[in-house]
Parts: sequence; structure tokens; C-alpha cells
Amino acid sequence: MNDSQTNAPYSGYHHSQRGDYDHELAETGPGTVMGELLRRYWHPVAKSSELGEHPSLVRILGEELVLFRDRSNRLGLVHKNCPHRRASLEFGRIAERGIQCCYHGWHFDIDGTILDIPGQPASTETTEKVKQNCRLGAYPTEEFRGLIFAYLGPTGEKPEFPHFDAYDTEGITMSPYSALFNCNWIQVLDAIVDPVHTAFLHQDQFTDGFGTVGEYQFYERDRIRFLGTATRRVGDNAWIRVNELILPNFTQSGAAFATDGTRNRFFGRSAFTRWVVPVDDTRCMAFAWGNFGERGDPPEFNTREGMERMEQGEVIDRSHAEKLRSPGDVEAVEGMGLISDHSNEHLVAADRGVALYRRRLKKLCRDLAKGKLPPAQADLNTGAIHTYGSDTVIRVFPDSNGDDALTLQQANTRVMDIIFHGDQFNGAERDTYIIEALQKLSH
Ligand code: FES
Ligand SMILES: [Fe+2]
Repeated sequence: MNDSQTNAPYSGYHHSQRGDYDHELAETGPGTVMGELLRRYWHPVAKSSELGEHPSLVRILGEELVLFRDRSNRLGLVHKNCPHRRASLEFGRIAERGIQCCYHGWHFDIDGTILDIPGQPASTETTEKVKQNCRLGAYPTEEFRGLIFAYLGPTGEKPEFPHFDAYDTEGITMSPYSALFNCNWIQVLDAIVDPVHTAFLHQDQFTDGFGTVGEYQFYERDRIRFLGTATRRVGDNAWIRVNELILPNFTQSGAAFATDGTRNRFFGRSAFTRWVVPVDDTRCMAFAWGNFGERGDPPEFNTREGMERMEQGEVIDRSHAEKLRSPGDVEAVEGMGLISDHSNEHLVAADRGVALYRRRLKKLCRDLAKGKLPPAQADLNTGAIHTYGSDTVIRVFPDSNGDDALTLQQANTRVMDIIFHGDQFNGAERDTYIIEALQKLSH
């Protein structure tokens, strides 16, 4: 095979449709390098509203787990199979304290300690030995605003539960949601730092104005933060939309419905505050809050349908004909296959954000394999973690010489400089600084 054959028209025969995927990025089960990295961070594993009076089966990072709330209102997240003879604790009986296996009644506390072994003499040496040597695997949990988070890593390395500034924005209502994708998590994560896709996939799904590509710029900060920004021309305005990824899987974006670029907006906040969590290697779940209010998306979208559209461009439950007519994110990413063949991709300048964050993720995995812990999100700054997912619309007249691309890029740089400069402040003070500086810039 030579170049003239492979590049010739109708040369399908010369190109393999089958490549291989990047195993380092895609595999997240126990013992894999990425699995180890992800196990150094907190992840949402369920919505509080999903947890009823019975235990519920949870799959995360390739592990089968059982989540329950005991009668003392404490959450337990434990390995699915009972350490006695492997019955599933999904069928366990919830107790005042912990859970009891349905098969022979072994009773476990939420941290996995064995409390009781029915049928065994209470205090014999053998009973004590079993209690000491045998434990049910359990993980720490945190429940926060309708989402249940877990830490699946080594006991001595649990990071602080991160508090993002998005939790404190005044006037925002946060509504929890989740959405399943039947494909590898990297396919879903990629889209957050891919500003060009919104101009094609979402051109008719969000507000008018999404349909132009505009100028895109990428920013890499603090080793674990990646921003993909789009700057679009709308009349005499420049609309700067900032999507963000904080490694390994925290994402925010600009609004979906709050702005079309025609009216000033100063540091409007993200449509969602969201994590892309691997279920196993061929499925992942987006767990998030939709953010509604003056600085988020309009409250009328605070419905199941509204949040599905923010998450995926379209409602999820649709006929195949509807999906063909208006594909959303789920069609785009599931269409790549269960795990996309990364070796057959051809990344271009617009994929710089994707290339940058993947490279850093892999570096963090390799460092961890050598014993170097990844940066903690809570260490990004003092106080609530600063986030950047936002929309800003400022007055920027088109360049009379005709190089509007440059004008838009410069507007982007100025806006991002202000946002970054705001990092010297925290919380409401940071917001006020950024908003006032952007207002001044807009005149
Ligand atoms: S299998 Fe669970 S108590 Fe026997
Ligand atoms: Fe999208």
C-alpha cells in the first residue's frame, strides 16, 4: 500500500474501519491506571430521590455496589456481594443500624463492620476471628443538595469534599438530574471542551446565534483546569461562552437558553454543574444540577424536558425518526461505538482542548502510578473553588478594516483576563469585581 492508493478517491479498501481505543484513557475498572486516578476524587453516584425504602444497585467505575439509607438515616455504599456466601445485598434488609443480608442474616454497619452473625455463638473465639478478618467492602459518602457522592479510593488518601463557588451563586435554583450514555466516558467528557460542536449539533436546539462557529480559544490553568471558549459576533456585540473542565470529570458550560448574544450579559453562570461518571467502560452517567435563575438558565426550563435539552440538546426518549431529524449529544457520542477507536481519529486545531486535557489526564495517571498524588480540587484556591463556566455579552463594534476574527479574539482575551484577574477575590466579592469590570469594558 502506498500513499497514492490510500489518498485516492474510493480508497475505502485501504483504510481500516477498525482501530483501537486508548486503553489508558478509556478503562476505569479497579486496578486500571485511570481507575486509580478517578478513585482519588469524589464522584456523584446517585440522586437522593432514587433511593427508596429498599437498597438500590449502583454501578460505578466498573464496580457493583449497593446503596441504602439505614433506619437511622445514615447512607451506606457497600460491595454488592455478602462476604459470607456472596448473596446480593441488593436484597438485604435495612436495619436500624446498617444492613442485614437476606440469606443468613449477617448484619453489617454502614462502614462494612460485621455487627452480628446469627447462628454463631456470640462470643466464641471463632466468631471474633471472623468478625476481625472479614469485612464487607464499604465506601464513604456525602449527600449534598439531592446528589449522593462517594469516594472509592484508598482510605488514607480521601480528599476534602470539594465545594465549588457555583453552589453559592445568589438567586440560583439547583435541580439535580442524571442522564445515561451508552458509551465510554471520554466520548462524553470530550464535548465540554469542544466549542465547535455547538455550532453544528446544536444550531437549532438552543438559542439563535449558536449556529455560527465564531472564534475559539482554549485555556489551560492550574494543571487540572481546561477552558474551551467560543466568541461569536452578534450585531454590535461579542458573545463569549466559556465551557470548563476541572479534572478528572467536573464540567460546566455557558447557558443553553439564557442568551442569544443580542443583549448584554456579564458573567452569567453555567447551565449545569455536572460530572461525567463512568458506570463501566461502555456506559457513563452525567450527574448534575441544572442551574436556574437570572444568572443561570431561565426558570421555565426547570423541568425534566428542559434539563434533558440542556444536557443533550434534545429530549432523551425519542423515536429513531426524530433522532435522525435532529440528533443530539447522545446520538453524536453513542454513534462512535461503545468505545471510540481513538487511533482512527484525526484531531485538528479546533480539537486542541480535547488534546490538551487528554494529555494531562494521562500524565496524572502515569504520575500516580509512580506514587505522585494528583492535585486536589479543593487546593485550587482558598475558600469555595472558583469556576469559570459562563456567558458574557459585551458591546464590541465590528472592525472597520474587516478583520473581525482578530477583534473577536481580542475581546475574548480581554474578557478572560478580567475573569482571571477576579481570582484575587472570593465568592460574591469575585463576582462583583468581574461583573463591574466587564460592564466597564462594554462601553
Ligand atoms: S450469604 Fe449473606 S449471610 Fe450468608
Ligand atoms: Fe453538546
